[in-house]
Amino acid sequence: MSGNQKLWGGRFAESTSALVEKFSESVSFDARLYRQDIAGSKAHARMLGKVGVLAADDVERIVGGLDAILAEIEAGRFEWSEKLEDVHMNIEARLTERIGDAGKRLHTGRSRNDQVATDLRLYVRDVIDGLLPLIDRVADGLLDLAEREADSVMPGFTHLQIAQPVTFGHHMLAWREQMLRDRSRLVDCRRRMNLLPLGAAALAGTVYPIDRHDVAAQLGFDGVTENSLDTVSDRDFAIEFCSAASLILVHLSRWSEELILWSTPMFGFVNLPDRFCTGSSIMPQKKNPDVPELVRGKTGRVIGNLNALLVLMKGQPLAYNRDNQEDKPPLFDTVDTVSACLAVYADMIPAIEVRRDNCRAAAARGFSTATDLADYLVNRGLPFRDAHHVVGSTVAYAQQKGCDIAQLSLDELRKFSPMIDTDVYAKITLEGSLAARNHYGATSPAQVRAAIARARATRTP
Ligand code: ARG
Repeated sequence: MSGNQKLWGGRFAESTSALVEKFSESVSFDARLYRQDIAGSKAHARMLGKVGVLAADDVERIVGGLDAILAEIEAGRFEWSEKLEDVHMNIEARLTERIGDAGKRLHTGRSRNDQVATDLRLYVRDVIDGLLPLIDRVADGLLDLAEREADSVMPGFTHLQIAQPVTFGHHMLAWREQMLRDRSRLVDCRRRMNLLPLGAAALAGTVYPIDRHDVAAQLGFDGVTENSLDTVSDRDFAIEFCSAASLILVHLSRWSEELILWSTPMFGFVNLPDRFCTGSSIMPQKKNPDVPELVRGKTGRVIGNLNALLVLMKGQPLAYNRDNQEDKPPLFDTVDTVSACLAVYADMIPAIEVRRDNCRAAAARGFSTATDLADYLVNRGLPFRDAHHVVGSTVAYAQQKGCDIAQLSLDELRKFSPMIDTDVYAKITLEGSLAARNHYGATSPAQVRAAIARARATRTP
């Protein structure tokens, strides 16, 4: 056969090598964009009709044909062909097969370069719209858990050493803050990317009297992109999304690390229900926290995907380069991974059983109220540095005796400072320590309840 039968084959003397066809196809992964591709094509065709580039009956045939193709794909009856390279040409070729010449007119005033940029923006937008409710479920689960455990004492850590008592509820609200920032990053990314690329065509715009604002309005974009060269080459929105997704996973990975530690018998702070754990094929006693471990592991993949996109872009001159086709596997993998991790956490968080006795015992073990004793002395007039020293000696003494500072007698305590009186005990118990941290943002049960009330009042519906 002479020539080349591709949609773009006119200037070619021979057909594409089978190896190159296989090497360069993207339909095996970009078929996932079919809904956005069809929506973009319908809007483009309608606009071409409005401005008089396409006849009304052609527009009708194109829109009807695209709807029929959508139904074929969703019913699993569409035959994707690698010979047709990508999602765009598969759908366009099928359209022409179904409706004849009108199908060949669809690509007027458009290029696959602005087409794929449009599809991808629509896709990332849809993905974000799907992730926000998942994030809300995770954040709401944390709020409920925080409420359940607003009074539960646990050790707060710095350097993973027992530092000061905190409430379990306070710790859950800390996790929730991370998720709220993640949410706002996605909203921000969506807002910045919600501009229509179509009309940039290959790179320089098109000779037809197109109405980009009409297409933007049809597709729910807030406006149109500014510069055609930038438009076809820009993948910032995909990078921003993958960056926001990486941070989501970094947060879930940190929670995972804590849950893994907390569920070992040495901590024993939580019990993860059996349905989120698996056993060992050799050690019958084992119950492993696989879900958090996998989330922690998958975080590496998602950070790797972000890196792949950054490196993909760093050497590209303007405008479109075929390199960009490589943006999709990392992007899609990120979407799948972040969705799956959020979904499993949304289910698991409300099911976390807190082992309050163990949390309390751990907080009581580590001299976690030593700062409260120092603050007590400061209140009685001792400079903080001196108080710090006095309490250091008291802790060393209690450690040697094998008890907590709250278990020392008044006489013993007064050896370290005569300023100490019986009222000290109310301050250096776990409850006393918690209750004293009673200002906006602090850990007392009353403040945790206040934070929960504020969260419920301002919760995005
Ligand atoms: N499959 C291509 C991509 O994902 C579509 C754009 C191809 N454009 C081109 N001029 N070859 O980027």
